[in-house]
Amino acid sequence: MDPNASFDTEEVEHEYSNAYDRPQPYNYEPARRPRDQEQPRIRRNNGHRREIELWCEENQWRTGQLSWRMSAVVVVHGGAWAIPEDLAKASVDGVKAAARQGSSVLKGGGSALDAVEAAVRVMEDNPVFNAGRGADLFAESIGMATVPADELVTENERKEWDKQKNYVTGVMEDFNSQWAHDTVGAVAVDSDGNVACATSTGGIRNKMVGRVGDCPIIGSGGYADNLSGAVSCTGHGESILKVTLARLILSHVEQGKSLADSSQLSLQYMGDRVHGAGGAIAVSPSGQWAATFSTERMAWAAVDQDVLWYGLDPKEKLNEKLGQ
Ligand code: GLY
Repeated sequence: MDPNASFDTEEVEHEYSNAYDRPQPYNYEPARRPRDQEQPRIRRNNGHRREIELWCEENQWRTGQLSWRMSAVVVVHGGAWAIPEDLAKASVDGVKAAARQGSSVLKGGGSALDAVEAAVRVMEDNPVFNAGRGADLFAESIGMATVPADELVTENERKEWDKQKNYVTGVMEDFNSQWAHDTVGAVAVDSDGNVACATSTGGIRNKMVGRVGDCPIIGSGGYADNLSGAVSCTGHGESILKVTLARLILSHVEQGKSLADSSQLSLQYMGDRVHGAGGAIAVSPSGQWAATFSTERMAWAAVDQDVLWYGLDPKEKLNEKLGQ
């Protein structure tokens, strides 16, 4: 228990019998009789606010609430696909820059929501990721200046377009051999214990006009709940939608699995059940985090306690002190 922690106001007394009969939230440990002189201990982890174990005093249960500030964490991804070598360094540099930006927002006292928005903006403005371009209509509607569409077409995208003018061929190639996505995302937990996610995409190549992918659908491309965590997904939108990937990951977390195991199990399920591949980043209210993918590569980065973590290939997990 944190020695600097201080008790909040309320202390609630219960009869022994009430304590045993009380409804149990999903990760609530079963109530039991305290032994004499037993010290209170953490019973339910609800982010940075924790309900502590009941203890015995003159045959009465007592509860208390305890809160303290914990270090904030941000994790970002730049899309899960077979990132070619010529985009590898730029992709990793891009996610590192985004994670740094998210972290500086958190350090400045910003919320998790502010942090994920700032991190995603950095990647949307970086042509290596090519997300966020669908925002021009919105930008126009709020009076922002627009530029000709040609200026938004990157060299790499033009080459791919020439190669895959046929929709069926393009989708088969993208989703069976070379997975190609324009999605970026971020998740964060702030020092108040609030979690948030953001996911932004340019969709998939040769998509039908009007297609809606997974990203704007809560539970599929992203989900955030202060009781379990926040997730942002990347991959084949139709597959992610079919398994509601973000919610699936958090439902495993709620059953007691780690973030990494939950993400791996869910991506495996998506592969087995609907032949989809992709990736996910996740953060818990207590500051644990994971970056997982079933594609060949995914550029990701995280800032946790002044260390910048990052990777691109499976099992790659590099780090450097922030500020280097
Ligand atoms: N995951 C992005 C999309 O399929 O639209």
